[in-house]
Parts: sequence; C-alpha cells; structure tokens
Amino acid sequence: MSAGATRDVLAIIGGSGVYEMGWLEDVEEVSVSTPFGLPSDVVLRGQVKGGDATVLFLPRHGRGHRFSPSTINYRANICALKMLGATHVLSVSAVGSLREDIAPGDLVVVDQFIDFTKRRISTFFDEGLVAHVPFADPVCPILASAVHDAALATGARVHRGGTYVCIEGPQFSTRAESRMFRTFGAHVIGMTNLPEAKLAREAELPYATLALTTDFDCWHVSEEAVSVEAVIAVLNRNIGYARDVAKSLARKLPDVSQSPARHALEKCIMTAAGASSP
Ligand code: ADE
Repeated sequence: MSAGATRDVLAIIGGSGVYEMGWLEDVEEVSVSTPFGLPSDVVLRGQVKGGDATVLFLPRHGRGHRFSPSTINYRANICALKMLGATHVLSVSAVGSLREDIAPGDLVVVDQFIDFTKRRISTFFDEGLVAHVPFADPVCPILASAVHDAALATGARVHRGGTYVCIEGPQFSTRAESRMFRTFGAHVIGMTNLPEAKLAREAELPYATLALTTDFDCWHVSEEAVSVEAVIAVLNRNIGYARDVAKSLARKLPDVSQSPARHALEKCIMTAAGASSP
C-alpha cells in the first residue's frame, strides 16, 4: 500500500476485455449517481488476487458501446471513480499510429496530449467556481513509469512517452488532418483520453494512459486507411497485453503521494469565498 494512503484503489477506464479472465475476485456491480449525472455504466469493483488493492473498472463507452466519444459523460465517469475512492487511474484505449516506428500491436505509454476536441465538457470548474489547474505534464510520471514497467513485462513492443492527439470524432481523420498531426510531432491519435486526463487532474487523481496501437490512421502510403474492422481485429489480438498490465499494476501499485496530480488544486481556485458576480 502507498505511504499515506488508507487503501489503494486502481480505477481502470477501458474496454471490456481488460477485466475478463477472472483476475479479480469478490466482484460486485456498483451503481453511482454523481452531481454531473450518471457514468457510462455501473462500476465493477473487485479485489486483485494476490494483492492488496481494490480495482474499479468502468467501461468507457458503456456495455454494448452505447456512448460515442462525444456523448460520454466524462465528468460523471471521473467523479464516480473519485467517489468510490480511486487513488490511481489507468486509461486503456485503442489509438492509431502517426509514426512509422509505432506499429499496430505496439503499446505506447503516452506522456503528452494535443486537444482537437470541439464539444466536450472537460472541466468541473465552469459554474460558480473558477480554477486553472497546471496541466503542462498531463500524465502522472510515477504511475506512467509503473505502467511502462508492467507493459515491458508483457513482452509486447513498448514505447515510453509519446504525444496523443485527441480528435472529436466519431469520424476518423482526413488524410490532410492525419498528415498535419504528423507535422506536429504527435505519435498517436485517439478520441477519448484528453477529457479524462483533464478531469482526473482537476479531481487530483494521478492518471496514465496505456495506448494500444491498432492502425496507421490514413497517412501511410502503403497501408490501408483505418477502419473499424481493422481496429477491432488488432484490438482483439492484443487486449491480453492490456489485461496483463492492469493485473500486474494492481498487484504492485506505486506510491503516488508525490504525484503532481495530488495537489493540483492548491492555489488554483480563482473565485473568492463569498464573492458575487456582477
Ligand atoms: N482509435 C483507433 N485508431 C484510431 C484512429 N486512427 N483515429 C482515431 N481514433 C482511433
């Protein structure tokens, strides 16, 4: 257990394959209602076999994939995990590669994001209370390092660090957009992780992403442009890696008491107590 924590609680946001295979015990379904509405689904809560941590699992798109990247209630998702005592948040998601050296099947432990979303509520501080949290380093380096170690142990090809472009979707990018993102120096592209990272930071939750590369988006001259079929086929082949990372992380959660996320709200709230707006 981390120093100073009462109990470590690893929250995993991802697709359903991550928690299958019976690596959790005493699993229960927990319904949570938050001030921001309902999360994507009930949260599964269980204990990792052979470890101390509690594990929470939230299917990002809901079971049966009911919510598109634009309609996921990211605020309710992060708030629900916080309400259930999460101390670490691992996001698992499929991404396209924007680089020749990152191939389908590779794992990327990203450390930066570029925001190309257009209609997401990505803050808890938009009414009554205004806060500007530091977000220069959006991923918790301590958690990311532990995710990287766990990823290496799976035997997969792993890339440490990388920039994730988050697009609005649900359409994939045009070729012109894909080429433009490459000129930004971005490594991977996806549709969901940035609102989660922002909200986790505001909730003072250490957050890290394990990105599962499924395709070369549409910039590559000799590869087919991305399709849902290709994404699902590669994901199905590689979901075991994500499950193994989640499992070994849950068994050995790092001490995140020094994470930049843990004190993110200190000195950031602008609204004066008792002040009234004109
Ligand atoms: N998820 C998986 N592949 C993707 C891509 N090429 N673009 C956006 N999201 C993705």
